[in-house]
Amino acid sequence: MLLGVNIDHIATVRNARGTVYPSPVEAALVAETAGADLITMHLREDRRHIKDADVFAVRQAISTRLNLEMALTEEMLDNALEVKPQDVCIVPEKRQEITTEGGLAVLGQEKTIATFIEMLEKENIRVSLFIDPDIAQIQAAKDIGASVIELHTGRYADAADEKTRQAEWQRIKTAAEFADKNGFCVNAGHGLNIHNVADIARLPEIRELNIGHAIIAQALFLGLSESVKQMKTAIFQAQMLNSEQ
Ligand code: PXP
Repeated sequence: MLLGVNIDHIATVRNARGTVYPSPVEAALVAETAGADLITMHLREDRRHIKDADVFAVRQAISTRLNLEMALTEEMLDNALEVKPQDVCIVPEKRQEITTEGGLAVLGQEKTIATFIEMLEKENIRVSLFIDPDIAQIQAAKDIGASVIELHTGRYADAADEKTRQAEWQRIKTAAEFADKNGFCVNAGHGLNIHNVADIARLPEIRELNIGHAIIAQALFLGLSESVKQMKTAIFQAQMLNSEQ
């Protein structure tokens, strides 16, 4: 199973202060060195985290694959055709949402999605559709000739109790089996963390997981202690120099 590391929230932290750090390019390279199989970024229409320049810079810098998540808009299509990532994942997008709340409605948008797939595939960009674990949506994706889907695991991840979690997991399992039987490359993602990933990772039909927020959040605690020590050392060394003068 492959891991796509989503680095959007490196940009969230950077943008909070308008600095140039932390750098999404540096994050992508660290993630690759640690074993990430691909780097995922979502260029949202409001550019709230990743900016256009980040996408170009990461595309140039990495040696794995860039998976660009984008809304079903002409602007994003033009952008993807210019960046030429190895992969595009088409996601639904609402301006007011905090994160991608539901899967893409393939039903009702078949023509537009089919056109996007055709135009992107012509440039050798693999196209994935981010959809809910819903048989009707998977069937619609098949009918328009899609070959890759990413199942939205958000409802599983956010389940309030064990019974709901089990039911949501079963939906993902059934959807993954159905999609695999129908020839899809099946990926999954959203809301996955170190506690809930195992039950998804053990589904044999799923080939790739895209995980962002939890990895970046965990990185703070894996690194905070070192970061504080580094600052203390810098302050201490400055004072030592002072006292020597
Ligand atoms: N997959 C898709 C299609 C997404 O839109 C996102 C969020 O940008 C993710 C995976 C990663 O979700 P999370 O940040 O919750 O791990």
